[in-house]
Amino acid sequence: MQLTQASHEDLAPIVDLVNQAYRGAAAPGWTSEIELISGPRIDLRSLTALAANGTAMVMVARDGAERLGCVSLTPADDGQWYLSMLAVNPATQTGGVGKAIMAAAEQFARERGATSVKISVINLREALIAWYERRGYRKTGEVGAFPYDDPSVGTPLRDDLALVTLVKPLV
Ligand SMILES: CC(C)(COP(=O)(O)OP(=O)(O)OC[C@H]1O[C@@H](n2cnc3c(N)ncnc32)[C@H](O)[C@@H]1OP(=O)(O)O)[C@@H](O)C(=O)NCCC(=O)NCCS
Repeated sequence: MQLTQASHEDLAPIVDLVNQAYRGAAAPGWTSEIELISGPRIDLRSLTALAANGTAMVMVARDGAERLGCVSLTPADDGQWYLSMLAVNPATQTGGVGKAIMAAAEQFARERGATSVKISVINLREALIAWYERRGYRKTGEVGAFPYDDPSVGTPLRDDLALVTLVKPLV
């Protein structure tokens, strides 16, 4: 598997991959959030804006020509990079690709001066939080509000969603 910065041609396939991984109804993966939020996780317009914002990096994981997954990394001056939009094609999940993407993303960040990586996860996604904890991430105690007023993130199906922050030191 290789993790590289996404090109313009990767963006539409990444939108599809992310929406399938997070909320695809056809074959929900083991961490699907389809019972928590409906609607797309991202659209091409917002992903294109993210890729062009000059700060965030959209990365694609490939095995040859096949796109296996993706992740976004946002550097920060204090060395604490933000990792988001991690996704693996549901047909490929549980085969180790998610772990490989995380390891490659952390290595990419470390080589560019990151000292820690921060993520935010929906509070109710316990299996996913446990998965991150097995990768060395720890809850900071910070719990942020879920963006209920932002329709671009989808339609929440519950009123008790929040965002838990986890951090992993890289040094
Ligand atoms: C989270 C995600 C990236 C993980 O990728 P993956 O390729 O499925 O994960 P891996 O194969 O590397 O790891 C599988 C692990 O999950 C565990 N697992 C598999 N099925 C499971 C289940 N039903 N319940 C709990 N754990 C399970 C495996 O035991 C293994 O654990 P390990 O840490 O002991 O090795 C992927 O499931 C995904 O794309 N999810 C949807 C998008 C998402 O939620 N992104 C994160 C948002 S914060």
